[in-house]
Amino acid sequence: MGGQNPYIGELDIQMPTRKYAVTFEPMNVTVEVDPDSLGQTHDGLPGSILDIALANGIDIDHACGGVCACSTCHVIIKQGFETCNEAVEEEDDMLENAPGLKPTSRLACQAVPNGTKDVIVVIPDWNRNLAQEPH
Ligand code: FES
Repeated sequence: MGGQNPYIGELDIQMPTRKYAVTFEPMNVTVEVDPDSLGQTHDGLPGSILDIALANGIDIDHACGGVCACSTCHVIIKQGFETCNEAVEEEDDMLENAPGLKPTSRLACQAVPNGTKDVIVVIPDWNRNLAQEPH
């Protein structure tokens, strides 16, 4: 499974055009994002926080395969929230089911930073046991 949810219409996504960094907390792992190597995991939108995490060995839970049909990939974007595409209604509906919701909560599979600023992502407690640092 993976890719894009066919029931969600056209998304307004601005892909990054230059390299930028994403830091995952609390493990404090920073990865460089290369615009030319996005979308290889086929889980979540290409260039999404989930895509970036999985490509770098950080396993955020994603029960639905990254198609905006669950809330297990909930993350909090501590820095760079405004550089991400806006959440569509379907994402907001799913997020309502996520515990520990914050104003800068997003589904990792749907949030695509545009690379104009480095991003800091917090993986919530309840998902953290499943998150692994790169080996
Ligand atoms: S993995 Fe299911 S909504 Fe992101």
